[in-house]
Amino acid sequence: MSPPSVLALRQVTKSFGPVEVLHGVTLDLRAGEVLALIGENGAGKSTTMKILAGIEAPSAGQILLDGQEVTFGSLHDGEEAGIVMIHQEFNLAEQLTVEQNIFLGRELRKGWLLDKARMRRLTREYLARINCHIDPDMLVSKLSNSDKQMVEIAKALSRDARVLVMDEPTAVLTGSETRILFEQVRALKAAGTAILFTSHKLGEVAEIADTVTVLRDGTLVHDGPAREITEDEMATAMVGRDVSDLFPDKPAVAPGG
Ligand SMILES: Nc1ncnc2c1ncn2[C@@H]1O[C@H](COP(=O)(O)OP(=O)(O)OP(=O)(O)O)[C@@H](O)[C@H]1O
Ligand SMILES: [Mg+2]
Repeated sequence: MSPPSVLALRQVTKSFGPVEVLHGVTLDLRAGEVLALIGENGAGKSTTMKILAGIEAPSAGQILLDGQEVTFGSLHDGEEAGIVMIHQEFNLAEQLTVEQNIFLGRELRKGWLLDKARMRRLTREYLARINCHIDPDMLVSKLSNSDKQMVEIAKALSRDARVLVMDEPTAVLTGSETRILFEQVRALKAAGTAILFTSHKLGEVAEIADTVTVLRDGTLVHDGPAREITEDEMATAMVGRDVSDLFPDKPAVAPGG
């Protein structure tokens, strides 16, 4: 039996003005599972993720949280429900420090005062978990893109998410940073977090996903266990035709030879 669905979409449609970009998307995020949402540029991955996180409202269809229909009024409602999203575009306050970003909007207090010691200790703890050695006092504007992504990940880890939505988290990470992220993903999975992630690197998808869901031009064209789909089949589902002609891995046989 599959684990219970934590967050789900049912026949979700999204239009921007007159243009419909998602056409009846249905998917389930389950406790302790990693779902990879893949598709070409513009397929609708980020839009789907933003709807799940409460950042965009669907034009039609339902969002179910623990099987009950919910209406998210804002990102705040999504966060209240334990849904944390790491954006494709960074979502950090550049003029604040690493630590201020991690606790932005939920600063820890001791009575009336900020509990600076505790925030410092926790910041160091979250960064250590992802093997990131930046100074908590460093301004985010001074960080490299990959360190910014590590701060986003630390911030997400600090929130005890029930659902973690990551939009192309590895795009700016090095190979070893990706390994560290995947270790954390495995730990969160073991703790029962439902995880949704997207990547253009199909090898990563094959490595970490339990379920692979493919969007093509806003339509869900494949949804099934990761172990039952090869990377070639993922690519074919994404573009809608056999891509082995585009990327031949064997030399073509010459006609007549
Ligand atoms: N705010 C918006 N206003 C108008 N159109 C939008 C908006 N956001 C997304 N779109 C359109 O919706 C479609 C899906 O975009 P989306 O960003 O969800 O794709 P994606 O799969 O995340 O692509 P990528 O791989 O490039 O990140 C695209 O055609 C895009 O131009
Ligand atoms: Mg996107």
